[in-house]
Amino acid sequence: MERTLILAKPDAVQRGLVGELIGRLERRGLRIAGLKFMRVSRATAEEHYKEHSAKPFFAGLVEYITACPIVALAMEGPNAVDIARATIGATNPANATPGSIRGDLAVSIGRNLIHGSDSLASAKRELDLFFGIDELFDYQRSAEPWIFES
Ligand code: RTP
Ligand code: MG
Repeated sequence: MERTLILAKPDAVQRGLVGELIGRLERRGLRIAGLKFMRVSRATAEEHYKEHSAKPFFAGLVEYITACPIVALAMEGPNAVDIARATIGATNPANATPGSIRGDLAVSIGRNLIHGSDSLASAKRELDLFFGIDELFDYQRSAEPWIFES
């Protein structure tokens, strides 16, 4: 079982595609372990994308991700990191396979709708940045099923 950080980026919120993005990941088989609608601070954005701090697109990337609220999710399942990345598609939507989120719904690398952690180590680091431990639901330690009345 793995957990990964998903961000529905500002363009997803503005285009009304948050439900579509979450729905695709849920239908793939990943489940929600945490979810929040939030504004990303400049400090959090710079920390989140620090691997790109020397790149020419860094300033624009920070402007983009802080521009308006996002929806942050912790999603979990077997191989959640790789499964989310495959469902999301290539960084540049022009190269993303049709059927993937970016391949179906985006055209521009600078407005590519959604983030997914690129490794288990990145997922742990990024989840710590966006969620407190008490904000993540532990299915293992909870009674089920909640879908039936007692
Ligand atoms: P993300 O981190 O947002 O999930 O995207 P990613 O792993 O697919 O791509 P990454 O290489 O981590 O790049 C982070 C974000 O920076 C923007 N970018 N722009 N103009 C460019 O050449 C360029 N390259 C990357 C994209 O918005 C990308 O999602
Ligand atoms: Mg990345």
